[in-house]
Amino acid sequence: MDVLPDAPLLVVDAFSADEEIWSAIRRQRKFPTKVIRIEKGKDHCGFFLWGDNLKFLPEIVEHAKPDAVDLDAYGVPFAQMQLLRDLRYSGMVFATAILSKIASLPNAMLRDLEISDAMIRDGSRLITYQFYDLILEWLNKNGATDIRAIRKEDSLRKMYLSYRLN
Ligand SMILES: C[S@@+](CC[C@H](N)C(=O)[O-])C[C@H]1O[C@@H](n2cnc3c(N)ncnc32)[C@H](O)[C@@H]1O
Repeated sequence: MDVLPDAPLLVVDAFSADEEIWSAIRRQRKFPTKVIRIEKGKDHCGFFLWGDNLKFLPEIVEHAKPDAVDLDAYGVPFAQMQLLRDLRYSGMVFATAILSKIASLPNAMLRDLEISDAMIRDGSRLITYQFYDLILEWLNKNGATDIRAIRKEDSLRKMYLSYRLN
């Protein structure tokens, strides 16, 4: 909440589920907060664009020019982070990144960081251990500014991020 400007806001909730987070934020904010929801699952309440957010984001970014995009994924929303960079989206991004017990960071992200395929094959433990730093390094190399990251104390595998693309 403290990173949100005191101004009306248009947000894309790209992994919306039942929109718990943004409906709670909207209730607390003094300024109008419009939310465009995207969700690929069927059993969710309210109105949302139904389908893969990768399909909807290009048009929404180009025409609606949202102030913020929320990527609250179950895994690491790397494809969406890459897409926002490639679309030259300008605004805030919120993201949750979670490594599952069996999945490492996406290989495409590791290759972007010039980590060799051999290391990707052999180094999954190291990569898990360095997951937090690797994501921050990728953001720094890909135009993100105002990066804030919160790592859950009890978890090597979960972090919350906010950053800005210009
Ligand atoms: C962690 S939940 C989001 C919770 C939500 N932020 C809230 O406050 O209630 C992630 C949701 O993203 C959806 N999802 C996963 N991949 C998606 C995609 N590519 N496009 C749209 N929705 C997706 C899942 O179906 C799931 O409901």
